[in-house]
Amino acid sequence: MQIVHTVEALRQTLAGRGRPAFVPTMGNLHDGHLSLVRHARGHGDVTVASIFVNRLQFLPHEDFDSYPRTLEADCAKLQAQGCDVLFAPREPDLYPQPQTFKLQPDPALADILEGHFRPGFFTGVCTVVMKLFACVFGASGGGVGVFGKKDYQQLLVIRHMVQQFALPVQIVGVDTERAGDGLALSSRNAYLSAEQRAQARALYAQLEWLATQVRQTQQPLAQLEAQAMERLTALGWQPDYLTVRQRDDLLPPAAGAAPSSPLVALGAARLGSTRLIDNLEF
Ligand code: PAF
Repeated sequence: MQIVHTVEALRQTLAGRGRPAFVPTMGNLHDGHLSLVRHARGHGDVTVASIFVNRLQFLPHEDFDSYPRTLEADCAKLQAQGCDVLFAPREPDLYPQPQTFKLQPDPALADILEGHFRPGFFTGVCTVVMKLFACVFGASGGGVGVFGKKDYQQLLVIRHMVQQFALPVQIVGVDTERAGDGLALSSRNAYLSAEQRAQARALYAQLEWLATQVRQTQQPLAQLEAQAMERLTALGWQPDYLTVRQRDDLLPPAAGAAPSSPLVALGAARLGSTRLIDNLEF
């Protein structure tokens, strides 16, 4: 695996190597990321991953400084999965000047749920992903971007960005990898104490409960969502949201009407100081 740090070196490395299949990450790789790399290998001529902890998508009080940076171990994992090229820019390589041009995603999609609780998050994500796409696909004129469904709203926002800017990038969404007890794999799971880890599957369990109730009862959705929040709170969590939305636009399904698309239950909640997100399509 070739490891490059600068945009110029990346472009030189990728020149003449066909269409990249690209997995952007912030590092501290776990089996979820590695599953994205395995998917990418079937989708392009050259498999590219990036590791960059993107300051633009963190709020001032969030964990940018403490976000685990484990480059050496990450390289070994990527190499073992057959990744061809790792782009690991340092901050001045990707942001040589402060990034004053930023992408403004559609508020209808990006200011709800995660965007409501983390204002500016999707501006930061879209800005860096657009820039990474320019670096990775510049030489080939296009390729494939591979993203996990655990960040469900992020995947949707990126799909819309690609569509609206007519980017020559096909976006592939990959199912969430889970631990044996159902907990979605996430770099932030590393922040959990042993006791918290034992309780952590409760978030997914509440999404399962919510999906089952929506399928099997006639209760109004708002009531079911409030009950799911109460159930999680009673277990010592601080939920931001537990909600059921239409999969294609993340709008609430209209009461009593058939939803315009299949549904997804989405949740975000804090266990101690660790904020976890998860979702369940149904
Ligand atoms: O999902 C992530 O790890 C990040 O949001 C991404 C897509 C790498 C952009 O920094």
